Amino acid sequence: MIRTTDLRKVYQMGDVQVKALDGIDLTIDKGEFVGIMGPSGSGKSTLLHMLGLLDQPTDGQIWLDGVAVNKLTDYEKTMFRLYKLGYVFQDYALVPELTVSENVSLPAMLRLDRNEEEIARSTTEILERIGIADRCCHLQKELSGGQQQRVAIARAIVNKPDILFADEPCANLDTENSRMVLGLFREINDEMNQTIVMVSHEEWHKEYFHRIIKLRDGKIIDYGK
Ligand SMILES: Nc1ncnc2c1ncn2[C@@H]1O[C@H](COP(=O)(O)OP(=O)(O)OP(=O)(O)O)[C@@H](O)[C@H]1O
Ligand SMILES: [Mg+2]
Repeated sequence: MIRTTDLRKVYQMGDVQVKALDGIDLTIDKGEFVGIMGPSGSGKSTLLHMLGLLDQPTDGQIWLDGVAVNKLTDYEKTMFRLYKLGYVFQDYALVPELTVSENVSLPAMLRLDRNEEEIARSTTEILERIGIADRCCHLQKELSGGQQQRVAIARAIVNKPDILFADEPCANLDTENSRMVLGLFREINDEMNQTIVMVSHEEWHKEYFHRIIKLRDGKIIDYGK
């Protein structure tokens, strides 16, 4: 499902080169719920951004679902993201002017293969599934942090992505809401065999993951297998 070989990302900061990723080789199978862990600055977000086609590696190869994604054009990458990938971020990244329903249907509306009726149906289904249907017409500012993250998760899965990427989705949540988010990921993973790659630096999140890949200084120090 996900494979990289000798993946590298170097940031040039004036005269200094920061090796954010220093030769990452990994394979993640379909249906795995993988945690990416490691200290601050170890390259977790950088790795997630590369795998999620949100940024370009300096060197190395990435295959997603058998496609050598670095060889795609920018337009093809945009389409790949829209049709195959979903994202959850720590700051929720909702559109403040849109209601809950509108936020959730947004990625579906960008697709050419889905009609209005179908989008309305899948949006309602997912809001119910995630337990936020009673808030469908509210704006972001009228929701708690936990509710906002639920909406962001609904939006991330409305297109039934092959891979769900999450970068510290619990960073702004208390323990109870963090458990809710992690539990939701587990359910989505169990029920839909959804592949999930989640960055975290909380030790207690470990129990939710099938496997943990540990990074330090841009390298894998524990592959978890
Ligand atoms: N846009 C950038 N420009 C320059 N250096 C960067 C950039 N983004 C990340 N870095 C550097 O790359 C390294 C890895 O950063 P990254 O954000 O991937 O770490 P992280 O493991 O996600 O850390 P945290 O737990 O604090 O989020 C760090 O040394 C960081 O300073
Ligand atoms: Mg990070």
